[in-house]
Amino acid sequence: MTILIAIHSPFEIWTIPPSYVDRLRHRFPTHAFLHARTDDEALTMYPDAEAVFAGQITRQQLAAATRLRWLHSPAAGVGGMLFPEMLASPVVLSNSRGMSAGTIAEHVLAVTLALFRRLPHAFRCQAAHEWAQDAIGAQGNRLIADARVLIVGLGAIGGAVAQRMALLGARVTGLRRRAAGPAHGPWTVAPAGHLHDLLPAADVVVVAAPHTRETRGLIGRPELALMSRDAILVNVSRGQLVDELALVEALRARAIGGAALDVFVDEPLAPDSPFWTLPNVLITPHTSGFRPDHWDAATDLFAENLERFDAGLPLVNVVDKEAGY
Ligand SMILES: NC(=O)c1ccc[n+]([C@@H]2O[C@H](COP(=O)([O-])OP(=O)(O)OC[C@H]3O[C@@H](n4cnc5c(N)ncnc54)[C@H](OP(=O)(O)O)[C@@H]3O)[C@@H](O)[C@H]2O)c1
Repeated sequence: MTILIAIHSPFEIWTIPPSYVDRLRHRFPTHAFLHARTDDEALTMYPDAEAVFAGQITRQQLAAATRLRWLHSPAAGVGGMLFPEMLASPVVLSNSRGMSAGTIAEHVLAVTLALFRRLPHAFRCQAAHEWAQDAIGAQGNRLIADARVLIVGLGAIGGAVAQRMALLGARVTGLRRRAAGPAHGPWTVAPAGHLHDLLPAADVVVVAAPHTRETRGLIGRPELALMSRDAILVNVSRGQLVDELALVEALRARAIGGAALDVFVDEPLAPDSPFWTLPNVLITPHTSGFRPDHWDAATDLFAENLERFDAGLPLVNVVDKEAGY
């Protein structure tokens, strides 16, 4: 079988190192692996590919991929490739959900603690050699213990956040699209439709649902208005789930306590974005999901699925194209 690997990005951390392509070649000597370093190069290789390991595919590439049966993404979010032609095609999609759950959950803890302990303010004062005991002390330290944490999207990432927050004594509720099924720990599970009921009491709102038709703009002006003035918003999912204009307004007006944003509608975030200078915002450049052994984990998951594909077994992490994740 001919397999195309097309995982490249302007950012080096999201580009598969060639040594991992070689590793797959050695592990699966009966398959032919093509390695594309650019979109244009990938386009010339798609006609031969029966399987693809890629984080994105364009309409033009899909049209050229006449032999393609299966595409596996090294990312969890696949919303960008669910255009109508892909929905209509028989190509099976699988993703890497779960792979980054632990590292993202630690990130959520880190930024929640940073905002609860006023660290952005402390860092600004440190840079200015300013002993701001009164200013920082007046805001008070907040505790995760007993805080009410609302997780929008209790999947692999949301579940890992719930576990860690609950261990620190938080009172955790998670929202799922299909709320049937038991909670797998000391937290409450509620259906997505309960969002508005639960927002007013939340101290921390963690956005961890996928970007789908249903979740676009999920946290907009009405939702921000329901949050308390102390509450913080943490987005580790995709920028499209949050109405950024409404969020800037809410932050400027101090209508909510702060935000920690790892993802944005347009990435890289424009140099003139108001988010950069808002004092109650913590920005990370879509790095929450990176783990030290990222490419080992990503290629191992692909290899596991390739073995299954070869053996005619069901793949893991098959995407429900209609649901969008
Ligand atoms: N920042 C990063 O670097 C990074 C890295 C990896 C992933 N991500 C993003 O995080 C997303 C989630 O990843 P994951 O691995 O946790 O995915 P997952 O395991 O598939 O979990 C998704 C969860 O969201 C829930 N959900 C779906 N639609 C919803 C809605 N309308 N309202 C509330 N909950 C809803 C699902 O409900 P059910 O349980 O009922 O299906 C599920 O619990 C990805 O799609 C990706 O966009 C970001």
